[in-house]
Amino acid sequence: MNSVKKAVIPAAGYGTRMLPASKAIPKELFPVAGKPVIQHIVEEAVDAGIEEILIIISEGKEVIKSHFSTNSDLEDRLILRNKEEELKEIQKLSNLARIEYQYQPEQKGLGDAILLSKSWVGNDPFMIMLGDTIINPISETQKLISSFLAFQSNIVQVREVAPDQVSKYGIMDGSFDKDKSLYKVNKWIEKPSQELAPSNLAIAGRYIFTQDIFKYLEGTGLGIHNEIQLTDAMQAMLRDNTCFAQVLKGRRFDIGNWEEFIKANIELSDFENL
Ligand code: G1P
Repeated sequence: MNSVKKAVIPAAGYGTRMLPASKAIPKELFPVAGKPVIQHIVEEAVDAGIEEILIIISEGKEVIKSHFSTNSDLEDRLILRNKEEELKEIQKLSNLARIEYQYQPEQKGLGDAILLSKSWVGNDPFMIMLGDTIINPISETQKLISSFLAFQSNIVQVREVAPDQVSKYGIMDGSFDKDKSLYKVNKWIEKPSQELAPSNLAIAGRYIFTQDIFKYLEGTGLGIHNEIQLTDAMQAMLRDNTCFAQVLKGRRFDIGNWEEFIKANIELSDFENL
């Protein structure tokens, strides 16, 4: 199987949990340790060998594009003022990866957003990186790609959550394969109640699939919250394909949650006496 060179970053949601802060500024552009959340994610992708990125946006979120595009006026001004460090940072942004954008016309869920990337993905394996999720250390993403290539199977990063938190996430059931140090997944279920949850291993925010996932997404109807759920398509795909889950050895910050947003800022900044 080819290596993973493409990533899709869904960033079209309204960010309602972060209102009013997210009314005009997409939460993906909120600063964490001096740079926007989505820049952390693009850098993580590039570090893992990703060369092409598709960001799914919605109307009103065009400012995400501005962050990664060239701004000649700003560059000229920085040159004039001899601000070399800042100039380098700004120029780096427009050269990080080949970034394209796709609009999601209606907010019909994560599954719908991913389905919109079908023709861009083509026949290549690809990674999904949730646009509001920072992973630390970023080397965990490279490890996910290595496992995908070693075992030639769809793979999803998971992490343990407290039992009373399972209803916020996609949860897996599976058996641990000692030789591979991975779970072989038997079941995916989106946002189950605590009683129905088969484990407390939750989808963390990074997934690698072959293009087969699109076939199942096309057959997926509305799920929980009346949205097309990626997790439902993953469950359908288990009928014909194996899927592994790799436990994240590190931290995951959900930027759509104030407490985690603040924690991310503190943990990822190098403040000495905070
Ligand atoms: C989405 C996924 C869920 C996953 C979560 C991780 O849910 O549907 O399976 O566990 O992201 O953040 P959302 O946060 O969009 O409700």
